[in-house]
Amino acid sequence: MKLIFATHNKHKAQEIQSLVPSEIQILTLDDIQCFDEIPETSPTLEGNANQKMQFIIDHYNVNCFADDTGLEIEALNGEPGVYSARYAGEMKDPNLNMNLVLSKMNGIKNRSARFRTVIALYLNGEKYQFEGIVNGKITESKSGKEGFGYDPIFEPENCGKTFSDMNLQEKNQLSHRARAFAKMIDFLNQNSI
Ligand code: IMP
Repeated sequence: MKLIFATHNKHKAQEIQSLVPSEIQILTLDDIQCFDEIPETSPTLEGNANQKMQFIIDHYNVNCFADDTGLEIEALNGEPGVYSARYAGEMKDPNLNMNLVLSKMNGIKNRSARFRTVIALYLNGEKYQFEGIVNGKITESKSGKEGFGYDPIFEPENCGKTFSDMNLQEKNQLSHRARAFAKMIDFLNQNSI
């Protein structure tokens, strides 16, 4: 069975391919000759994941899934949330994004935050949703060299170091994305074909 991942990122797709049952072939948008930037205009992660999944259903009517992730900071009422990629502007610059978070959090004691990933899956005519969360806090300054995005300023609870201080294997043990995909993969293992 072919399952389309609503992403142009081959690397992301290969990662999932290595985890799903071998009968399932994960294809990217490019693999199905879809070179569009799928709109992500919803004010929620659920909405964006659904919007990307629905785009594939409307244009190709095939089994597919889409994900969306955001950093949700309690003291900032859930910001940057769905705007995580472009919090400091359309340049999508991770350093500017982190600087903006650190300046908004300046002097704030409650540093609780979480990463949340939502996956929308369309399988054989039915729609499903999966969520992965990792709780933690925003550090006072950047630390670490690994990872991407907000990793240098996010410390998962009970870790004592940021995502950016971890290698990929360590991060994958507890990350929001890994947790959400583990749920979807469990589901596929039980329900595929
Ligand atoms: P996406 O939905 O996976 O494209 O993620 C949206 C944005 O959230 C990214 O551009 C990053 O700024 C941020 N983000 C997502 N996942 C992570 C992560 O694992 N570490 C740090 N930042 C992340």
